Amino acid sequence: MIDFAVVGIGRMGSIHSSNLANGLVEGARLVAVCDTDMAKLQEFKVKYPEVLTFDNHITMLKECKLDAVLVATPHYSHVQIVTDTLNSGVNVLSEKPQSVTIGEAGKANIVAQSHPDLLYGIIYNQRTNPVYVRAKEIITSGALGGIRRVTMIITDWYRSQFYYDQGDWRASWSGEGGGLLINQCVHQLDILQWLTGMPKTINAVCKTVNRNITVENDVTAVFEYENGASGTFVASGHELYGTNRLEIAGDNGKIVIDNMELTFIKYDESEFEVNSKVTEGYGETGASIERLKYEGDWRERDEKYGQQLRVVEAFTEVLLGKRTAPIAYGKEGINALSIINGIYLSAYAGKKVSLPLDAKEYDSLLDNLVKGESK
Ligand SMILES: NC(=O)c1ccc[n+]([C@@H]2O[C@H](COP(=O)([O-])OP(=O)(O)OC[C@H]3O[C@@H](n4cnc5c(N)ncnc54)[C@H](O)[C@@H]3O)[C@@H](O)[C@H]2O)c1
Repeated sequence: MIDFAVVGIGRMGSIHSSNLANGLVEGARLVAVCDTDMAKLQEFKVKYPEVLTFDNHITMLKECKLDAVLVATPHYSHVQIVTDTLNSGVNVLSEKPQSVTIGEAGKANIVAQSHPDLLYGIIYNQRTNPVYVRAKEIITSGALGGIRRVTMIITDWYRSQFYYDQGDWRASWSGEGGGLLINQCVHQLDILQWLTGMPKTINAVCKTVNRNITVENDVTAVFEYENGASGTFVASGHELYGTNRLEIAGDNGKIVIDNMELTFIKYDESEFEVNSKVTEGYGETGASIERLKYEGDWRERDEKYGQQLRVVEAFTEVLLGKRTAPIAYGKEGINALSIINGIYLSAYAGKKVSLPLDAKEYDSLLDNLVKGESK
């Protein structure tokens, strides 16, 4: 049995803790929760009297015998809690993002490397979505061929002024280290890099449209990849009837994921073959079509308990020796974060940036953005 503690029992952490306390994760149980908000702890104690409660994670790590800690606190605290947990000899599963800056994420990765016997995972739950899993299989198998173009449009993260006015740590440079990108789009940018690899350069524009916030809710970025492919990433949080679409065009076919339905168009002949054969200005070939929709029991369960549950289950299975790898290792968190930090650096410093970024240059930009907020 894997004994878990959850640190941070707010919106997300209370879902994790009730899933664990209610026995939804086979082979795991909840033994403790920790939150700095006493009212939340008291409320939790009434519901789950057998679970220990703590108001700071250091005391919890000292007093409690744990196998795993799940971190669901605001972004800036992730790395500290993750590294304290690993240094106490306990496995750790962190909510996304890994951190706010690549500099901090790098520190967590160094600590994790010094504990090779411990598991450090990150909750990138969208990697469990069957349409992305299938896209990964298609790309890894070579069926798509070399990637030529990547286009992602995610404008269905609608957030009203009311959402921002709830007034906690959200939607500020000082509170969460960014807006739409670091909070919501970190999932999509992880999927993007998981499927297509990391871009080499980033050129981006970030804007705040029709909201009284200091961070971005509108992003357009252009990526260049090592193999010559181009990428465009468009995201916003103010568009009604938003779009959720990913297109990956390759030499041998095209993957389109639109509103959680995957279509794989596999050309009968590669574009190279078509181009080498045709003797007129146009070209075409036949194609086979595969479709897969994220729906049915799988989706219903995700909607009922949270897709994040699958990541906690997989993490537990690894600890129990029933599975070889988690859905995502913590150290992979730095990839989406590098793209996010890169977009911010490009947009707010007004230049094209190359990856890997200079962590210190990003820290200094963020410092200025935080200072600008208090003026
Ligand atoms: N994987 C997902 O799809 C998903 C969805 C929502 C939120 N999240 C992530 O979960 C995390 C929490 O988000 P939320 O919406 O639950 O926020 P929240 O503000 O509702 O909850 C955060 C909780 O952490 C507590 N807290 C703050 N600092 C603490 C500390 N040092 N020690 C212990 N407790 C502390 C707060 O009191 C609060 O109860 C964020 O990283 C967020 O990005 C992930």
